[in-house]
Amino acid sequence: MGRQRRLIQVTDQTGVLADVRRGMIPAHVYNDREIFELEKERVFARAWVFVGHESEIAQPGDYVVRRVLQDSFIVTRDEEGEIRAHFNMCLHRGMQVCRAEMGNASHFRCPYHGWSYRNDGRIVGLPFHQDAYGGEAGFKRNGQRLLPAPNLATYNGLIFVSLDPDAPPLEEFLGDFRFYLDYYTKQSGSGIELRGPQRWRVKANWKIGAENFAGDMYHTPQTHTSVVEIGLFREPKAEKRKDGATYWAGAGGGTTYKLPEGDLDERLRYVGYPQEMVDRMKQHLSSDQLKVIGDDGFMISAASIYPNLSLVHNWPRVADSENVLPFISIRQWQPISEDETEVLSWFAVDAEAPEEFKALSYKAYLMCFGSTGMFEQDDVENWVSLTNTAAGSMARRLRLNSRMGILEDDTEVIPQLTVEQFHGPGSAHTGYSEYNQRALLSRWADDLETPMSIVATVEVGGPREGAQDASAKISAAAGDVAAASHGTAAQA
Ligand code: FES
Ligand SMILES: [Fe+2]
Repeated sequence: MGRQRRLIQVTDQTGVLADVRRGMIPAHVYNDREIFELEKERVFARAWVFVGHESEIAQPGDYVVRRVLQDSFIVTRDEEGEIRAHFNMCLHRGMQVCRAEMGNASHFRCPYHGWSYRNDGRIVGLPFHQDAYGGEAGFKRNGQRLLPAPNLATYNGLIFVSLDPDAPPLEEFLGDFRFYLDYYTKQSGSGIELRGPQRWRVKANWKIGAENFAGDMYHTPQTHTSVVEIGLFREPKAEKRKDGATYWAGAGGGTTYKLPEGDLDERLRYVGYPQEMVDRMKQHLSSDQLKVIGDDGFMISAASIYPNLSLVHNWPRVADSENVLPFISIRQWQPISEDETEVLSWFAVDAEAPEEFKALSYKAYLMCFGSTGMFEQDDVENWVSLTNTAAGSMARRLRLNSRMGILEDDTEVIPQLTVEQFHGPGSAHTGYSEYNQRALLSRWADDLETPMSIVATVEVGGPREGAQDASAKISAAAGDVAAASHGTAAQA
């Protein structure tokens, strides 16, 4: 295992980050190659990044292939039921081992020369081992395994990995946002099940969607006018959004709608939950989580977790009646480059929900979001156009004002909600604001200015100590590999 310093050949971004922190956003950050190189290394090689949900790999051998930026991982449940994320690169010549997007397999065989791996990552087959390498004496096969993600953890069944071996525990990373994440993922003791993902690419920078979902209630009356006009929602006016609260806590923040007067049960039924689901939520959410709905009258809507995971909860009409029905969606803004993003969009539903509810909720989701969703189509044209315009030289002269909700001296246009008005953790505000967009980009600025100084490298079956450079050897023992990390694309 060797230790190397990572060097990133980019210009000093100190001025850019200082502008971001005062809420004046240099427009080019939405389409800038150098910034994207920094993001790869300092945002995505550090953060906890969502790679799937346990329900997607419910049975031993189930797997999905997911990426953390360019790094492909086989996220699988091994024969013992343990969830693993293997770096999807063959230990031999580096071919991508698993090319299918999802499936069930006890083994993965590399298409190039046929090395094969058990679903716990261990090498089991190495063609012509004796002829080619002189057997174990030349290449120690026993115990070698696909590189594990340096860190893997789950919360409410959501699987995250971090490429940083020194990452804080996932729960610490998420912090108080867990309180809000539970609304989407813990409506019963069984948690959620997913459908999807739908995947598509948009020629837009990944940060724009993340910011929008975190807190942009201000765009609804303009961008989504037509959705309101056709009566997809019961609320007659998109301006109602300003009555909701935005909140920021820990690694994320989101928006809410203000509910009409009523008690907890009435308010949950108002958004379309049948009584049996309401009863389960009352068992599985905390009293403060229930108070945000029942006492404070706020219902969670869109949200983002830094850096690139978003959630939605909304309740459109699904048939020609006054009745609405809620849906939940999880989505990821997977950066392809500084001006392109792959969107992964899952439908999520409480596993214990009645079958009829699940079917209608899926319909509600598809009408609004997903590749053909009406909201989706409204939003994306803005984001593509913004990204395109951000690439030019004029954009380098422009600082966008992202200070909505605060005055020149930083005092609040509408004071923060008190703990009596809003029972959730973090800070919450009603009215149009950009508190959350600023919080998201401040966190981004913190990461961007903090180098990832040291990484470990792994050599596959390298010569033994003494035979060559002693520091560049890796033991074949699985534990040693697990303790090491692997470098990413920008490693020097
Ligand atoms: S690259 Fe995988 S077996 Fe050769
Ligand atoms: Fe939108």
